[in-house]
Amino acid sequence: MAISFRNPRNILLWSLLFIFYSSALFSHGANTIIQGQVVRDGEFIISAAQIFVLGFFSPKNSPYRYVGIWYDKVPIQTVVWVANREEPISGDGGVITIGSDGNLMVLDGNGNSVWSANASSIESSNSTAILMDTGDLVLSRNNSDEALWRSFSYPTDTYLPDMRVYMNVEEGESRVFNSWKSANDPSPGRYSMGVDPRGSPQIVIWEGLNRYWRSGHWNGIIFTGVPRMRAIYLYGFRLLNEGDGRLYFTYSKMNNSDLINFRITWEGYERQVRWDEVLREWSVIQMQPRNECDLYNKCGPFGICSVVNSPICSCMKGFIPKDLDQWRNGNWSGGCTRRTPSQCQRNEGESGREDGFLGIEGVKLPDFMDGSESNNEECEEKCLRNCSCNAYAFVSGINCMLWSGDLVDIQSFDEGGNTLYLRLPKSELGGKRKVTILVIMAVSVAGTFFLSMFIWLLWRYKSKLKGITGSRRKNHELPQIGANPSGEFSTDFSGTGDLSVEGQQGSGQELSLFNFNSVAAATNNFSLENKLGQGGFGSVYKCNFAFAKTTHFYFNEKLCGYGLMEWKP
Ligand SMILES: *[C@@H]1O[C@H](CO)[C@@H](O)[C@H](O)[C@H]1NC(C)=O
Ligand SMILES: *[C@@H]1O[C@H](CO)[C@@H](O)[C@H](O)[C@H]1NC(C)=O
Ligand SMILES: *[C@@H]1O[C@H](CO)[C@@H](O)[C@H](O)[C@H]1NC(C)=O
Ligand SMILES: *[C@@H]1O[C@H](CO)[C@@H](O)[C@H](O)[C@H]1NC(C)=O
Ligand SMILES: *[C@@H]1O[C@H](CO)[C@@H](O)[C@H](O)[C@H]1NC(C)=O
Ligand SMILES: *[C@@H]1O[C@H](CO)[C@@H](O)[C@H](O)[C@H]1NC(C)=O
Repeated sequence: MAISFRNPRNILLWSLLFIFYSSALFSHGANTIIQGQVVRDGEFIISAAQIFVLGFFSPKNSPYRYVGIWYDKVPIQTVVWVANREEPISGDGGVITIGSDGNLMVLDGNGNSVWSANASSIESSNSTAILMDTGDLVLSRNNSDEALWRSFSYPTDTYLPDMRVYMNVEEGESRVFNSWKSANDPSPGRYSMGVDPRGSPQIVIWEGLNRYWRSGHWNGIIFTGVPRMRAIYLYGFRLLNEGDGRLYFTYSKMNNSDLINFRITWEGYERQVRWDEVLREWSVIQMQPRNECDLYNKCGPFGICSVVNSPICSCMKGFIPKDLDQWRNGNWSGGCTRRTPSQCQRNEGESGREDGFLGIEGVKLPDFMDGSESNNEECEEKCLRNCSCNAYAFVSGINCMLWSGDLVDIQSFDEGGNTLYLRLPKSELGGKRKVTILVIMAVSVAGTFFLSMFIWLLWRYKSKLKGITGSRRKNHELPQIGANPSGEFSTDFSGTGDLSVEGQQGSGQELSLFNFNSVAAATNNFSLENKLGQGGFGSVYKCNFAFAKTTHFYFNEKLCGYGLMEWKP
């Protein structure tokens, strides 16, 4: 190539070429469909910043045509939304248009409607559909910002950033996303994904009508049943309240140029991916379920699943297999039953005061809790008093959790998890005196520990914490405030005096840690202007660090700590 940048004329030439190329790109598609306009098969609607495309496509190995939305710049066809997933079009005569009633619709080659947005209240001859850079297709009246219909409210199988997944405690579980039938067929498949808002919300995957996987309850920072799902909060995953009991999950991109999404795959996996511009492929950030123990209720009621054990299923202490032959043959679905009836069961109607609790550490807590707002001591008391209560747990960010009836879908983790307190008769627990002595000992040890920690902390704060000190440490040197094996938040001060959240090293990702003073400064002393939102878990702030990108900061009084995450590709 003879063209050199040293020659100013060549720079001009390059600039002209660039301008020509850019305008050529822009001119090959608008981002709107107006009333009366017809978008034919082979024509495309492209979002303003050329992130998403709307048009006709065929899945690989499929002869049919579908209207969908996919990524413009991703060479591997990645469809995030499908309109006529149940009514494929044969041949290339299909069109997208806005009908005379103002509805967005898809017609086949014979002019028959195969799909309509069905916004019944439209009755407008002035509507326009716009494909946004978020991937949302929005139908609205001319001169109005109010959406009549939007594709984000009718997702297919993909959860995009900024999409809101609404839930209503009264309405119970909602199945929001539905998998494709197969890689070639976008019609609804066997798996769906959504939320169960009861107690504290959790994400659920269903296979048909049955639960197939669940995330465990949200504690404000992570889903308690997925202790390693840290990538989610790296991406600003949060639960927000819109008022009227309407809660929604949403997440945002940390870097605007990131392409990320969640999808329920036709094989039943929840998969979160990010486009890797260097490798030119989707890299998987996390995927669930990951192993046999993640499968819903693998070991049946009162069974515990652990991947490091062989066989993976065992009964909880004080329980024996319900059907020993089936259990020995590896059919664990029947679960376990009490070896000795609890005091409650033996004396129907009596208080059950003679029962006690066994703490089982590092587990995925059972499904179907009954929520309660008590503190820890009241929690135990409440469970003890009620004979139908089989277990309780206390988790920061959720508070007291009680379970009556069968305890299902319990997994033992080798890292993370929470402590479940299982109701057992005294005979299964050992003597009462022994327990009392242990409690007294534990209380005095803990008291001494906290007192010395407090004095030490005071000393640290006076002597050291000023501004950002050593805030970019390597991961293995991290001081940690994060879910300890019992899932409660605690601070490990063995490193330095900085409070910080533990971060997991992903592929090339690095977390930067900030001390309290610098976070206070970056959020303008937690000013309202910097406050982005408020959920059941606490507040989310926007931080402006001189040296870092603007980032999000989670603050939670209940958790007695805070975390801050920065995404560094
Ligand atoms: C729209 O409404 C019609 C008639 O009520 C129904 O047959 C069709 O399935 C609906 N389409 C969508 C996409 O909901
Ligand atoms: C369409 O919009 C124009 C102005 O934006 C308004 O004058 C006209 O009445 C509208 N037509 C209908 C049918 O709503
Ligand atoms: C609606 O708005 C589009 C541009 O946004 C315009 O081209 C079209 O003429 C408008 N329709 C009516 C009926 O005013
Ligand atoms: C976002 O990511 C792109 C490419 O991955 C990078 O070039 C850019 O600097 C990043 N932006 C910010 C604000 O970090
Ligand atoms: C597994 O065991 C349960 C009872 O515990 C029984 O009802 C079921 O049929 C068994 N399934 C198989 C495949 O044997
Ligand atoms: C005991 O717990 C059950 C189930 O949570 C509840 O329905 C019942 O009202 C409770 N009884 C008392 C006395 O609190």
